[in-house]
Amino acid sequence: MPASSLLPRPTEAHATAGHFTLGPRTCLRIGEGAEPAARLLRTLLAPATGLPLHPADDATVTLTLDRTLTDLGDEGYGLTVAPQAVLLRAAQPTGLLRGVQTIRQLLPPPALAASPQRGVRWSLPCVEITDVPRHRWRGAMLDVARHFQPVSYLRRYVDLLALHKINVFHLHLTDDQGWRMPVAAYPKLTEVGGLRARPDGAPHGGAYTRSELAGLVAYAAERGITVLPEIEMPGHVRAALAAYPHLGNRPDRALDVWTRWGVCDTVLGVHEEVFDFCRTVLEEVMDVFPSPYVHIGGDECPVTEWEESPQARACAREAGLSGPAALHGWFLGRVGAFLVRNGRRPVGWAETGTELPDGFTVLAWRDPAHARAAAARGHDVVNAHHRATYFDYPLSDGPQEPPGQPGAVVGLRDVHAHDPVPAGADPDTAARVLGAQAQLWTEYAATPARLEYLTYPRLCALADRTWSGPTSWTDFRSRLDRHTARLDALEVSRHP
Ligand code: ACM
Repeated sequence: MPASSLLPRPTEAHATAGHFTLGPRTCLRIGEGAEPAARLLRTLLAPATGLPLHPADDATVTLTLDRTLTDLGDEGYGLTVAPQAVLLRAAQPTGLLRGVQTIRQLLPPPALAASPQRGVRWSLPCVEITDVPRHRWRGAMLDVARHFQPVSYLRRYVDLLALHKINVFHLHLTDDQGWRMPVAAYPKLTEVGGLRARPDGAPHGGAYTRSELAGLVAYAAERGITVLPEIEMPGHVRAALAAYPHLGNRPDRALDVWTRWGVCDTVLGVHEEVFDFCRTVLEEVMDVFPSPYVHIGGDECPVTEWEESPQARACAREAGLSGPAALHGWFLGRVGAFLVRNGRRPVGWAETGTELPDGFTVLAWRDPAHARAAAARGHDVVNAHHRATYFDYPLSDGPQEPPGQPGAVVGLRDVHAHDPVPAGADPDTAARVLGAQAQLWTEYAATPARLEYLTYPRLCALADRTWSGPTSWTDFRSRLDRHTARLDALEVSRHP
């Protein structure tokens, strides 16, 4: 496939004459530190091509690290395809992993298939590419709390993200309707909190094992993707409270794992046992997930229970707060400080952009003005504006759309036009915007086919915007038309 079909679009690509063809005798020259990229290239190409790509010192395909190429940053790479040789260079190992995905896209689309493809010439068009991402946070969130997905499917999800050079896979692991993260000290979180009754059918449930999650983290790392764990607090915790009612504001009350969608007003209490719980859970999370960032939710936390609780009111008074509503920021501040003491950076959803404690990285979802406000306050910001990045919203208001999340339509054009840097941002504010992220909440999406229908091709547009910066709609469309053959080879579902 020509370089003009690459998605995301590389920073610079100059087509030159001729082709390089990979065959059974093609070998790899693997520079020091390039082994992970060589392994990934073999792993990705083996199922369809059967090419062994053995190592050899006189090989025609070279993968090499050159730490002096600092302009390429952590993820950039240079790729030269000439008739007799291929050279992939980067300053850092992750850059080589990104370049491997480009090599894969330059091959004919059957190279992406999961089964042997016969009679295909595995040719790459000659080209000179220099490619550096525009934004350093290019994320995709999957909500596995509302509908659980097995880890085998999460690996496929990661594979598809990697093809698009997405670098953060945000796993929404807990919510009112399900708790999926195992915590040894609190086994009922998954035993009780992992299972939800369904008034109209069999219960829905599932939880990961620690080794499954550790395996997923390693699998993603081999593809240059960080798995960002999210444990919701102090709201969106009904599943945890079903397991351990004493962590709530009314320990005498038995709660079920919530069977409705929306915002639930049961929230964590603010007594010391709750903070012991949060620390223990997050210690386990930090053990499993090496991500420098840990997301602790923070969104949609009604304060009615705190207002009604004498203990919470007293706690607010003792902490010198203006009232129980201020417990939200106080709570997140305490837990955030714990993460910081452990060398991690807390992340939260912003409701206004100015309410999260200092030091939080902010996912601004409600309004671009919140992204601007948070950045102006000194937060690092990821722009997750729902009208451009909520992929649970329908793609159009056409009759073919399945029933889904009520809300605004998020069309492909909306995603393509989504500038991570909010309009009106001054240069200092703009510098605090790390990038953008897609969200797939799963109240109305239970099956892999549905998840993929909602994710693609909208994620292609988000990947393009965050890696390449603004591209013209016509250019994006024409690349996407050709990229569709790759998604088809990967059997990405186009139907809900
Ligand atoms: C959110 O949509 N509640 C982050």
